[in-house]
Amino acid sequence: MNLNAFRENAKIEIEKVKTDGELEKVRVKYLGRKGNLTEVLHSIGDLPKEERPEAGRIANSIKRELEELIKEKKEILEEKKTLLWKDLTLPGRKPFIGTLHPLTVLGEEVQDIFIRMGFSVVEGPEIETDYYNFTALNTPPDHPARDLQDTFYLKDGRLLRTQTSPVQIRILEKHSPPLRIISSGKCYRMDTFDPSHSPTFTQIEGLWVDKNISMADLFGTLELFAKEIFGENIKTEFLPGYFPFTEPSCEQLIQCPFCLGEGCSVCKKKGMIEILGAGLVHPSILKKLGYSEFNGFAFGMGVERIAMIKYNIDDIRLFYQNELQFLRQFNES
Ligand code: DAH
Repeated sequence: MNLNAFRENAKIEIEKVKTDGELEKVRVKYLGRKGNLTEVLHSIGDLPKEERPEAGRIANSIKRELEELIKEKKEILEEKKTLLWKDLTLPGRKPFIGTLHPLTVLGEEVQDIFIRMGFSVVEGPEIETDYYNFTALNTPPDHPARDLQDTFYLKDGRLLRTQTSPVQIRILEKHSPPLRIISSGKCYRMDTFDPSHSPTFTQIEGLWVDKNISMADLFGTLELFAKEIFGENIKTEFLPGYFPFTEPSCEQLIQCPFCLGEGCSVCKKKGMIEILGAGLVHPSILKKLGYSEFNGFAFGMGVERIAMIKYNIDDIRLFYQNELQFLRQFNES
């Protein structure tokens, strides 16, 4: 028998098959126990001895080829069946599109408010030196205020910044006033996680240095900021505070947006909530940088804190757990 013609015939028949039943018939016909190929293999014994190995090799390769073709055909038939059962009228699945994290969105919103007031955005490093993070900010090594900010130190003596305030020094070293800058970024303190603390958090720092800047400029700017973030009717109050790098220093409070000053669990019955620290840049800092004739104000806020007040979130850890259910609330579209 011509083995090539045999192979071609088999291929054509497999190709034509349209149903499982037909495919099974073709399989039995060629590869079955009493099939054509089995016959061929048996008849090899009748060939002259020297032709047997070659004929055997060809017959076996045809066998493998046909088995492979039948397997492929089976898969094609299966696929057709599932296609027939697909319900093309089912509504499609909406792909979930990633969105910015709520802290990023709010951080940008805060920065935009200050950009509209003429501030420029600048950046500073997260790994800082002791000098920029403390000493240049009027906090020498023996200063008690260092105890308030438990610091992560690196082996080489540098540290993870505990605040964004070092940006003030870095910018004033490179650019002379008048200037208005805003800077946002991660800060680190050796706190353990609890509902209101996290070892990593986000701060936004502001600095305005010019001539004749007064507390009135500071109050006006920050009051406008609070109204933009919490609404036109929010009431603001400033109380005296303490920071080594500002004199005088203050804290900005807003009327609790949940009870409108009545006193509730969010504001711990106080009616007011602290949102940031601020003050007039300490004259000794400006003097050391060579800007004695200038003065200015600075402020710093925690983005998590602003977000918790704005959205009534009672646990800071929710921002870092990446629970989609939590995150999706901020991006309903
Ligand atoms: N760096 C301060 C902190 O982490 C916040 C702060 C207070 C920044 C007063 C300022 C400022 O620029 O003037 O607690």
